Amino acid sequence: MKNVVILISGRGSNMQAIVQARLPEVHIAAVISNRADAAGLAWAQEQGIATEALSHKDFPSREAFDAALAQIIDRYQPDLVVLAGFMRILSADFCRHYAGRMLNIHPSLLPAFTGLDTHERALAEGCKLAGCTVHFVTAELDHGPMVAQAAVPVLADDTADSLAARVLACEHRLYPQTVADFVAGCLHIENGKVINRRRPSDAAAYVLGQG
Ligand code: GAR
Repeated sequence: MKNVVILISGRGSNMQAIVQARLPEVHIAAVISNRADAAGLAWAQEQGIATEALSHKDFPSREAFDAALAQIIDRYQPDLVVLAGFMRILSADFCRHYAGRMLNIHPSLLPAFTGLDTHERALAEGCKLAGCTVHFVTAELDHGPMVAQAAVPVLADDTADSLAARVLACEHRLYPQTVADFVAGCLHIENGKVINRRRPSDAAAYVLGQG
């Protein structure tokens, strides 16, 4: 069994997708949030998963919060840390500590649209495809080696909300699969690029139809 610790800040639907996938060899050791009122935290608790809340507002600096957070995470001896809507910029030390064993999902086809408001920005640019990316986390925001991507069409009458919903459905498919690949030991970083030993590269990318 591999210990997986999931960090969230809010709804936690990606966390739920990973938990509900009941992946073999995966033990969800804890769900941790920087917001005590995160809806996903209550859901995880109901499933009998260990939960923790640590407010960043209680710390004088990003570094101090990240150090305290790492102490909590490490109590669960994680093989993998999964950021699932964890809306914090992470300090360099924190990223170094979990280098090669921390994944993030971002709601855009990276390297386009790092940061916030990805769907609004994709619509404003007139993009014809949108999507999501799972990547290893490095200190540069939304820039670590990419593991897998999924794309959806942008429709003529899309709003940021309708596009976000279409992308989110992809996220819920892509993230559990990526966690499974990591836990199976199939993801390797070579020259800054991810090699997936059990999937050809085209199987790490999806283009999904309308809906
Ligand atoms: C997801 O769309 C995720 O990709 C995004 O926040 C949402 C969280 O939803 N993450 C980021 O924007 C990180 N930069 P969830 O809490 O329901 O999983």
